[in-house]
Amino acid sequence: MCGIVGYTGKALALSPLLEGLRKLEYRGYDSAGIALVTAAGEKLWIEKRAGKLGNLEEILGDKVPNSHCGIGHTRWATHGGPTDENAHPHLDNEGKLAVIHNGIIENYLELRKSLEEAGHIFNSETDSESVAHLLSDARKEHKGDLAAAMRQVCKELRGSFTILAIHSDEPGRIVGARRNSPLVVGIGNGENFLASDVSAFISYTKRALELGQDEVADITAETIVITDLAGNVMNQNEYEISWDASAAERGGFEHFMLKEIFEQPKAIADTLLGRIKGFNSEILKGIDLDGIEKVVIVACGTAFNAGLVGKYAIEKWANIAVDVELASEYRYRDPSVDKNTLVIPISQSGETMDTLMALRFAKNKGARIFAVCNTSGSTIPRESDAVLYTHAGPEIAVASTKAFETQLVAMYLIGLHLGRIRGTISAELIAEIESELAELPGKVEQVLETVEPLRELTRKFTSAASMLFLGRHVGFPTALEGALKLKELAYMHAEGFAGGELKHGPIALIENGTPVVAIMPAAGSLLAEKMASNIQEVKARGAVVIAIADSGFEAADYLVRIPTTHEFLQPVLAVVPLQVIAYEMAVARGNDVDQPRNLAKSVTVE
Ligand code: AGP
Repeated sequence: MCGIVGYTGKALALSPLLEGLRKLEYRGYDSAGIALVTAAGEKLWIEKRAGKLGNLEEILGDKVPNSHCGIGHTRWATHGGPTDENAHPHLDNEGKLAVIHNGIIENYLELRKSLEEAGHIFNSETDSESVAHLLSDARKEHKGDLAAAMRQVCKELRGSFTILAIHSDEPGRIVGARRNSPLVVGIGNGENFLASDVSAFISYTKRALELGQDEVADITAETIVITDLAGNVMNQNEYEISWDASAAERGGFEHFMLKEIFEQPKAIADTLLGRIKGFNSEILKGIDLDGIEKVVIVACGTAFNAGLVGKYAIEKWANIAVDVELASEYRYRDPSVDKNTLVIPISQSGETMDTLMALRFAKNKGARIFAVCNTSGSTIPRESDAVLYTHAGPEIAVASTKAFETQLVAMYLIGLHLGRIRGTISAELIAEIESELAELPGKVEQVLETVEPLRELTRKFTSAASMLFLGRHVGFPTALEGALKLKELAYMHAEGFAGGELKHGPIALIENGTPVVAIMPAAGSLLAEKMASNIQEVKARGAVVIAIADSGFEAADYLVRIPTTHEFLQPVLAVVPLQVIAYEMAVARGNDVDQPRNLAKSVTVE
């Protein structure tokens, strides 16, 4: 996934472009580049470098010409390695047209072949460069109309794209288009923006317009025209961005991830607001649930782990079968789906391609789609029948923390309301769970107050080859999430297991000193005894055990206490120490905590 930003307006373009790229760098940081229109008909000014945005900023110095219109890009490499040549923007052969792109052009090889046969010279290995040459030809066919050229080129492309283009014959004009990849318009005063998401321009304006599928935005400093590919003008709804600019800043924390770990109590409280203490139809509004016979949750990564926890709660409270599917696998096994299936895509960004494609597959089969999402105006909620927004606020760190917690809360809310609608849960149990939900922000706060010793303990394992995580019932998906966090942040091998599964093979991994984190069920429960046996089994083979427990389990080598709560809600508390372990291990290993290698915040390619 890449960061896309365009500026045209009264100010010099360099500063808003760099500001936008800084805010979007979490979307990809293999390279960065900027193209500016300097004078009508002249070659564009362009500078681009492999590596992080800082590499580009270092060489800019004061050699950047004055310009009021330009585009900028941060790249997450798909076709072609992270080199200067493969960095965006890409130029046509006259050097007067520049393009930046997010997504994948699936038919780029055939396009490139015919373009090369027509005499175009390519300077990169990327799929995106084909668009620059296509646009150059199309613009000539359309007598210099860049927007008409864009509409024509979009019809020739297969795959997903957000594209921005500028041409020096039309200073001040930026044309953008999107398909299966995000693009929003920022409406300023004497200036306008195009970007992958609102964080790029929120410090300049909170007025935004979203683009629909296969739409083209044609902007200047004073005008915004949105059309479909046939050229029909579309009237998009302007909206006010609810975030404020400071929310996207680090707020004094060393890393966004640590800030977001400490924002979890507020994120949970904001997601619960107005949704508990009595039936609130807001939860499931906009979707007809009559006749629903099964639920299918589709998601990726951390969102998938949240769905696994949701399975336990929704099955128990609503007495309905729940499947949890890896979105990237779901449609390829052609599962049975029909109008009596409720499909719940869970996505923080709302742009994850695997999840979007699973949504579309199920929708085409007649399923009803109810999304859980953290980003208003993003593609997944827009293509769903209804959405339950989590209110975690902007999550900048690539590793998901507060979004995960709010996804868990959304799962519980859906389980309660489905159970209420289906008459499968008593009013007493609803009241009990709702009061426990209401206490979660305070209880997470309590856990956060005790994490300092855990940060020190974590450093004892900095050189460990791997770390294992054990859990049972809802503790099992919690173990999976703990392992995922450690993998993506510390680049350390980690694996999550169901406690009962250990003896069926994985226990062979245990050797002297292997760190094992055990997420313990509520003390006194049947599963607690089973987990206590699992601790003995691994300790007998030399493991060093860190137990996350509400009480008891003194047999562990180290104890991390968490408050008690309803057994299904325990992951909300137990995951916090796991996030801290992963964070601290990444810091101890000198990794880039907020932008771990090879990753991107939202993977908008399949
Ligand atoms: C989580 O820490 C990862 N960054 C990743 O697994 C993420 O959860 C996954 O890519 C899904 O993203 P989404 O929630 O935006 O769809």
